[in-house]
Amino acid sequence: MHYNTTLPAAPSCLDAARVASAEGPRNRMPTSVWLIVHIVVRNPLVNIPSFTSMVQKTARLGGSASNVIVGKIGHGLMRMTWFPKNGIPVPDEEAFESMRAGMDNLPPGAKMILNSGEFYGHEPRTANLDLVARFFEKYPQYKEKAFLCVKGGSANDTVFRLDMSDDNVRRCVDLSVDKLRGTIEMHHFELARVSPHHPIEDNMKVLSELLEAGKFHHIGLSETRAETIRRAHKVAPVTSVEIEVSPWNYHQQIQDVVDTCKELGIAILAYSPLGTGLDKKEGHAITDVLNDVAKRNNITPAQACIAWVASRGDHMIPIPGSSHKDRTLENTAAGDIEFSHEDLAKIDAVVAEHNAKGGRPIDDPRMDAA
Ligand SMILES: NC(=O)c1ccc[n+]([C@@H]2O[C@H](COP(=O)([O-])OP(=O)(O)OC[C@H]3O[C@@H](n4cnc5c(N)ncnc54)[C@H](OP(=O)(O)O)[C@@H]3O)[C@@H](O)[C@H]2O)c1
Repeated sequence: MHYNTTLPAAPSCLDAARVASAEGPRNRMPTSVWLIVHIVVRNPLVNIPSFTSMVQKTARLGGSASNVIVGKIGHGLMRMTWFPKNGIPVPDEEAFESMRAGMDNLPPGAKMILNSGEFYGHEPRTANLDLVARFFEKYPQYKEKAFLCVKGGSANDTVFRLDMSDDNVRRCVDLSVDKLRGTIEMHHFELARVSPHHPIEDNMKVLSELLEAGKFHHIGLSETRAETIRRAHKVAPVTSVEIEVSPWNYHQQIQDVVDTCKELGIAILAYSPLGTGLDKKEGHAITDVLNDVAKRNNITPAQACIAWVASRGDHMIPIPGSSHKDRTLENTAAGDIEFSHEDLAKIDAVVAEHNAKGGRPIDDPRMDAA
């Protein structure tokens, strides 16, 4: 178990999360008492490096980016502009504060995965890239702390659909570079889906050409089956695979992707790790176990959830979406949580029971016969 004996100037982000929790003991005692109690009587059930002003755990990307160190928890930007919670895009200042909070809390030398998309917007479809460009225009000093992932492949059509034809992939990459306006490089371009109409080998060749041309630096895949990842990786190195991983979505096909990526040295960007929002999961057996583990360990249910996803391997990088600073801090702090064997076993058991019934297959119904 890790004990941190030095007292930094400010309480950690995990403590900020505890303050947010109405049930936390932090709310019932003065700060000085809380600090002393917490140092002396560490919670024996979880390994939480406390009282550091920044998160500690990092991860490495894979493929051609294996030398890049990122925070263990990334930041999904999608809901800031696409299907935002209240139907209205998050105001710039709120979104920017949330992005900065995550990057400010990184350990030295680590970068934050910022997960964007060429089609993460309604009007215009490129609204997320526009947001990213405005952010780096205003805060260029954050460029060195960011690893920008952009997924793309939407058809040039008024109706949203995906089109992975060579020409359209080229168009999407150019469009993304164009929308970023030179404010930040596109570190990583991800094929949003694999199309049954376009062999992955062809897609990888086109992406390699675009990479060679300097449009972006690394190649990623999204929502891709294990056997397709193997085929793609033979053509060009795959840096990461984005796939939905949450306690509610961990069926065999997902586990195969997790195992295959580990074997091939590819990172997993685990999307929707909160199952698209814990509020939608009330009354579920998995939620009950997460709530129970969280309560006993004095962490939040969201942290328990993200920490469980992170615990699937060193190559797992959960990318929860959070539009608010406090939640970004809460979520990134979850990367430093290590469960006791007992708690991990309890969560594993309920997850296995639920996922034994199968789940959503890895594919996308909106993929058009382009
Ligand atoms: N590759 C793909 O096909 C794909 C598909 C979907 C998503 N993604 C990526 O994955 C990222 C995350 O996915 P997601 O947004 O669908 O799902 P998610 O991360 O599981 O859940 C996000 C939702 O949970 C809320 N939330 C965040 N932190 C919380 C906390 N600590 N406590 C309680 N609620 C919290 C968010 O609210 P607020 O926003 O109000 O903070 C938001 O409503 C996206 O941003 C995107 O980058 C990729």
